[in-house]
Amino acid sequence: MKAYRAALLRFGDDHQPLYESDGLLVVGPDAHGRKVVRAVGDHDALIERFAGVAVEDLRGYLIAPGFIDLHVHYPQTDVIGAPAAGLLPWLENYTFPHESRFADKDYARSVADFFFDELARHGVTTALTFASSHPASVDAAFEVAQSRGLRFITGKVLQDRHSPDGVRDQTEQSLIDTESLIRRWHGVDRLGYAITPRFAPTSSEAQLRGAGELAAKYGDVWIQSHVAENHDEVKWVAELFPDARSYLGVYGDFGLLRERAVYAHCIHLDAHDRRLMKETGAAAAISPTSNLFLGSGFFDYAAADAAGMRYGLASDVGGGTSFSPFHTMMAAYYVGREGHTKPGLSLTPGQLWWQHTAGAALALGLQGVVGNLTPGNEADFVVLNPKATPLLARKTAQAGNLDELLFALIVLGDDRVVSRTVTA
Ligand code: GUN
Ligand code: ZN
Repeated sequence: MKAYRAALLRFGDDHQPLYESDGLLVVGPDAHGRKVVRAVGDHDALIERFAGVAVEDLRGYLIAPGFIDLHVHYPQTDVIGAPAAGLLPWLENYTFPHESRFADKDYARSVADFFFDELARHGVTTALTFASSHPASVDAAFEVAQSRGLRFITGKVLQDRHSPDGVRDQTEQSLIDTESLIRRWHGVDRLGYAITPRFAPTSSEAQLRGAGELAAKYGDVWIQSHVAENHDEVKWVAELFPDARSYLGVYGDFGLLRERAVYAHCIHLDAHDRRLMKETGAAAAISPTSNLFLGSGFFDYAAADAAGMRYGLASDVGGGTSFSPFHTMMAAYYVGREGHTKPGLSLTPGQLWWQHTAGAALALGLQGVVGNLTPGNEADFVVLNPKATPLLARKTAQAGNLDELLFALIVLGDDRVVSRTVTA
């Protein structure tokens, strides 16, 4: 066992942030040998129970749950910042040509190594991640994640039409590959598989049907895709699937809406779609830096809350512009403001932080496993330095309450704040 003395941030069942200014976090093995949080709370109240346990003194730092990125593309690490008029030209001119390189496993592995270094530098300990359409890109990512002991979810992208040579796959083989990757990787160590149709326009009906059959056969495997990101895309889907009630309805028709299904964007949904998300237990991965960068639109928090939908925050690199959860939370704050006409009503810093930790875990069905620092959670956490820059030091010294402290970190923070990232 090991203990850390620092300020502590975690979340209650009511999603509210809980804070200890002088806290103790005790980590150690559980009955199955997993490294988990054994105790957490006020230092003075706990310390006698753990006499004899080595305590690292991190006073002056803030320990918080490791961040969860609910939607990111590791093969797009080098696509960040590619300018395009919107989603579809961005895919065609930059993303597909780049992803074609991931047929080469050595190349994929070198990018995966860099990608996981970036996640760690930014305090991200779990990510629901797109690989490319090449099975080798999945093996490369899982092998690197496994060697680092991470809780990590990815899958081979399914895209058998409207995709150029180099990334387009073949319907039957794509489903065979998906199933063999599920069997090879899902549930191994801390790894999980996600069935990954890129988005409805690039999959044939046969491929979507096959994906839905695999999702039914392997009920604890994840599903990830994109939906209702951009007006041109929504129009295209309506032309390709004239019988579907809506874009989201396409996925419902093929059995791809259920618990553990995470759909990026969810911007241009209607009330019926949002009810469908709620009823099926599917979740939205809100990707505000991507939506602002590609001019896709604004996630409607008020409508999502009214429907009771699950959601969490995501970088969506490389449509997104940063791996930093601080940048993503900041962008989500701007987006949240957009949806409210009354001044002063937007997301609180605690809500933003929850969406990138415990809320994202709930969206993944991994509540109680990652995303929080309550006992029994795997011991993935970040050590944050509230004095990482001169301005942050000034600002956080003047914080009169938790909201002010968290807001200072969200508005001014980046990788410099992340002093250490610890994974179980
Ligand atoms: N829709 C289909 N593919 C993609 C992608 O790679 N990024 C984003 N943002 N949207 C998509
Ligand atoms: Zn994406």
